[in-house]
Amino acid sequence: MPASVFVAKNYDSLCDLVADRLAALVQAKPDAVLGLATGSTPLGVYDRLARRHHRAGLDFSRVTCFNLDEYYPMTPASPHSYHHFMQENLFRQINCPRWFVPDGRPRGEDEIAQACRSYEAHIAAAGGIDLQLLGIGRSGHIGFNEPGSLPDSRTRLVTLDPVTRQDAADSFDGLENVPRQAVSMGIGTILDAREIVIMASGAAKADIVRSAWTEDVSGRVPASWVRLHPNTRLCLDEGAARLLPNSRF
Ligand code: PGA
Repeated sequence: MPASVFVAKNYDSLCDLVADRLAALVQAKPDAVLGLATGSTPLGVYDRLARRHHRAGLDFSRVTCFNLDEYYPMTPASPHSYHHFMQENLFRQINCPRWFVPDGRPRGEDEIAQACRSYEAHIAAAGGIDLQLLGIGRSGHIGFNEPGSLPDSRTRLVTLDPVTRQDAADSFDGLENVPRQAVSMGIGTILDAREIVIMASGAAKADIVRSAWTEDVSGRVPASWVRLHPNTRLCLDEGAARLLPNSRF
């Protein structure tokens, strides 16, 4: 079955659409396992989930969350960490007691590899991911699976693409401060999820969205691998969809 594409009028409607899907899953399956993403794109989704928790009692007390990635080296307490990002933008505001982010603390290669295997085992022990939320980077990455990433890749230490480091430069006060590596779930980890929702917003993403959705499925554009998954939804706003042929507004 081809992946389906949804085009929302603007960023707010896009976030409504994605938040509705996540909330419906948590309501239908109170012990759902969610795979979550960082970046600016999902912020509006997290804001809506927090509001639903406060206003409508959406209950995350039995939910488990696994994030895609973390910079390396990075301590969880750093304001630049994805651990910190998730705490501030979602987990401080909802009642989810079990949430995990890959461990970016500096240590030896063997220890990192062991921690990556443990992360995979932890996801499996939780029953696997019900829904994986993804953004897409201008390099074509999902998580920090940069160009060249293969569909059987698992959680591992990766090298960041120059485009990814450039896009992070402002938030690190300069390119020289952006880490060169990260720990990321693999494409294989992502494809194991029972459902994938990939979201993109704005004209700056239009070209990579077009490549990921219309060119050959290959490691050249890692996001294209999700088209192999039988239950994938690409959720866009009009800006991100504008180079897709036949996109319906
Ligand atoms: P963004 O990042 O949401 O900040 O554009 C997306 C990504 O790199 O996956």
